[in-house]
Amino acid sequence: MDMKKASMIIDKDYQISKIDPRIYGSFVEHLGRCVYGGIYEPGHPSADEQGFRKDVIDMVKELNVPLIRYPGGNFVSGYNWEDGVGPVESRPRRLDLAWRTVETNEVGTNEFADWAKRVNAEVNMAVNLGTRGIDAARNLVEYCNHPSGSYYSDLRRSHGYKEPHKFKTWCLGNEMDGPWQIGHKTAAEYGRIATEAAKVMKWVDPTIELVACGSSSRGMRTFAEWEATVLDHTYDHVEYISLHTYYGNPQNDISNFLAKSLDMDSFIKSVISICDYVKAKKRSKKQINLSFDEWNVWYHSHESDKRLEPWTVAPPQLEDVYNFEDALLVGCMLITLLRHSDRVKIACLAQLVNVIAPIMTNNGGETWRQTIFYPFMHASNYGRGTALQTIVKSPVYDSKEFTDVPYLESIAVHNEENEELTVFAVNRDTTEGLLLECDARQFEGYRVVEHLVLENDDIKAANTAERPDAVKPHSGGEAKLQDGRLTAPLPKLSWNVIRMKK
Ligand code: AHR
Repeated sequence: MDMKKASMIIDKDYQISKIDPRIYGSFVEHLGRCVYGGIYEPGHPSADEQGFRKDVIDMVKELNVPLIRYPGGNFVSGYNWEDGVGPVESRPRRLDLAWRTVETNEVGTNEFADWAKRVNAEVNMAVNLGTRGIDAARNLVEYCNHPSGSYYSDLRRSHGYKEPHKFKTWCLGNEMDGPWQIGHKTAAEYGRIATEAAKVMKWVDPTIELVACGSSSRGMRTFAEWEATVLDHTYDHVEYISLHTYYGNPQNDISNFLAKSLDMDSFIKSVISICDYVKAKKRSKKQINLSFDEWNVWYHSHESDKRLEPWTVAPPQLEDVYNFEDALLVGCMLITLLRHSDRVKIACLAQLVNVIAPIMTNNGGETWRQTIFYPFMHASNYGRGTALQTIVKSPVYDSKEFTDVPYLESIAVHNEENEELTVFAVNRDTTEGLLLECDARQFEGYRVVEHLVLENDDIKAANTAERPDAVKPHSGGEAKLQDGRLTAPLPKLSWNVIRMKK
């Protein structure tokens, strides 16, 4: 029987956009073992003089993450930033009402800034617009970004940080549309406080960029109306609006699960339309871009989390063990973000360590890479440059929630500077391989340097401390590029990275 086929035309002049590197951002929240037992564990054999785990730092560097959102998430809506600065021994232990834990405040803004430097990332700082307001927000900007000669900048200097951190991107709160959020607000209430906070934050430091909270998911009853109202208030004061989404496969329906990136695609298109509707209404010349600052698979740990004791320090919350099919959906979601790189300028894989994360650790023990680590690492390392508008024809299927789902999910990225062309492709077919035939005429003289493939006979296979390499990519893919024609067999259920170079 002949293999199913898909075709693609790649033209280097048909461009979607230059890819903003911040699309490969991630997220560290004071939640579960993300900070304590994750990035920070003073007693660990690999800990440095500040208590940061070097084994974790090394793994984060493999992901080449340029931006990390911090310190939450739901946590930020009850956080007093002042608790986390100054002498560690006098920092208070607080009840964190968002996650029902005890926060020791051993790690705060300055320590996190140090850690972010160690992994070559910028900090995307969030302010608390739940229990706090514009005063705490402007003071935090002054503390972090003002050079000296004022109360909060001199306070930072007295804490040992002579130079300002110069955090550039700031989030105006978190998921303020959600009733679970500490200090939940209506769209109008949030629109007002976000505008006033934005004004004073930018008066302290006019170089910062701001992200307003969009809906916490497309499924919220207030979705769309929320974005329109919030932007009506904040349009002239912010640069981005946020999107969050998490998918799961509790019904164990893989064809439907792998199609969920189509939902992400519609979500992005809808938010772009809302931004542009408000732009039209205001006769504005300014364009609001998107910050998809929480995205991932999240469902495996929902039940076990209900059994955890409240009010402990760093319990194992949200510790999803990702399997092979999750890595395929994460691959499809990365491709979707890249296809919208003209408007999605920031995206954060939520989260980075232990909490719904690509990197796992044992307290006092080893680190390992979850299945989702690989597509993210590949995209972040090889997906830099310009996203190309390819013309793709792929056979399609219908699933429970989606129609005309292409078996092939793909994007091509051209890095002109390094003379590299990379095709990222997922074959969603559960039963057979797909032959990708590609017209890449302007890339004559290029050759395939590597065809990486992530595939596995067991869709539920997962990496654990005992079997850290149960799911990992190999470079035995059979892509060939000859006379400007690329042919690549994509195995059933596989993530592929076809790297070509002059
Ligand atoms: O990433 C986990 C949580 O998901 C975040 O704290 C919150 O913003 C979202 O609901």
